[in-house]
Amino acid sequence: MTKDTSTTKCLIPQAWPESYTKSGQTRIISVIKNKKRYLPLLLIGDEQENMIDKYLERGEMLVMEDANGATLSTAVVTNEGNGILELKNLAVEPRFQRKGYGRKMIACLRERYKDNFHTLIAGTGDSNQTVSFYKNCGFEYSHTIKNFFVDNYDHPIIEDGKTLKDMIYFKLRLSCKT
Ligand SMILES: CC(C)(COP(=O)(O)OP(=O)(O)OC[C@H]1O[C@@H](n2cnc3c(N)ncnc32)[C@H](O)[C@@H]1OP(=O)(O)O)[C@@H](O)C(=O)NCCC(=O)NCCS
Repeated sequence: MTKDTSTTKCLIPQAWPESYTKSGQTRIISVIKNKKRYLPLLLIGDEQENMIDKYLERGEMLVMEDANGATLSTAVVTNEGNGILELKNLAVEPRFQRKGYGRKMIACLRERYKDNFHTLIAGTGDSNQTVSFYKNCGFEYSHTIKNFFVDNYDHPIIEDGKTLKDMIYFKLRLSCKT
């Protein structure tokens, strides 16, 4: 039987700092094939599968695992051109939330992409959880897309008891290149 190496290849392997690959606590891998096996986690970051399908294949998918191989977090980023990288999906397994793994994934994205992109953007609903998270990670407000959730999702998206309407974009500087 051929060994499945799809989760062991990295698009830019040398880009990883030692602490992420050899800390003995977590490692981050770039998933090339069969990304949909992480669908349950992807659906935590974006709850409509046909919306995930719009970016999953063209994006780079990163998965964070602990030392026992348990999945902690996923992120999908896309190249939006002109030095802009977009975080399309970010999710931390519910039982591992609020332990710093989301922040660690952002730090890792920053390190991995800083030489090729100047800005990381992330769109989110107007919910306390995600807005506080992005602000805590150093993002600042960028712009709003009115009615994004109403126009693009086939059911109401509810977070923190609130029905989401507009998409709020945050931005984080990755490097001083323009
Ligand atoms: C949002 C999410 C990615 C954050 O990841 P996490 O590992 O749980 O968050 P961290 O532990 O790294 O938190 C970092 C900071 O963000 C803020 N934060 C995180 N979760 C929060 C919450 N539920 N309420 C308020 N602030 C929160 C806090 O300031 C926190 O720092 P602190 O714990 O020192 O107070 C994760 O909770 C998640 O997967 N949520 C569901 C999916 C989702 O909403 N994805 C984002 C889509 S845009």
